[in-house]
Amino acid sequence: MTQITLALTKGRVLNEVLPLLQTSGIRPEQEIKESRKLIFNTNVKNLRLLILRGVDVPTYVQFGAADMGIAGKDILLEDSGGGYYESLDLALARCRLMTASLKDTNNVEGRTIVATKYINVARKYYAQIGRQAEFVKLFGAMELAPALGLADEIVDIVDTGNTLRANGLVSKELIANVSARLIVNKIAMKTKFELIQAIIDRLKMVL
Ligand code: PRP
Repeated sequence: MTQITLALTKGRVLNEVLPLLQTSGIRPEQEIKESRKLIFNTNVKNLRLLILRGVDVPTYVQFGAADMGIAGKDILLEDSGGGYYESLDLALARCRLMTASLKDTNNVEGRTIVATKYINVARKYYAQIGRQAEFVKLFGAMELAPALGLADEIVDIVDTGNTLRANGLVSKELIANVSARLIVNKIAMKTKFELIQAIIDRLKMVL
């Protein structure tokens, strides 16, 4: 029996993706949010769901441990792996990848120190705009870094802007618009074409 495995991103992407799956007729065998399980069968024969950290979704899909995945475009821009197609923009979990700095700050002379978990994206962006920068890798709470003197600027996703405001920061430049994307392992796309296409069609129908 051929299985199809779809890797989902927990957190805000999952909150918006679960209703989409539901509308497209894909229902997990049990309430995902009420369980500590990380893998769920569904009502759709042969389709199971994985619940992962966003950064791990491209990895699972790249190596074929999952056939398909749903992750934010921010994660895909940062990911340096390959081996998958970006098949569908789900237009969900929209936000913006931006630079931000303290509200009352002058432009930095010389090298800008940038704290971010999006090191690849940030490096590319600052090179593109011709600003010399150094990068500090953080895994969260980037918004603290400027006030504590760890960095001049941050690169992070902004949704409502509440987190920036609450920490005395203002957004500056837009790097990319972000939304949830469906990715598909390149080999699975060939070997499991019909099953995968059927899921893509279900999702497309409700978009
Ligand atoms: C993200 C991001 C910001 C916040 C922005 O974190 O890192 O902190 O959301 O949203 P806002 O503009 O609506 O305030 P998230 O809560 O997704 O957690 P994370 O740090 O684990 O990514």
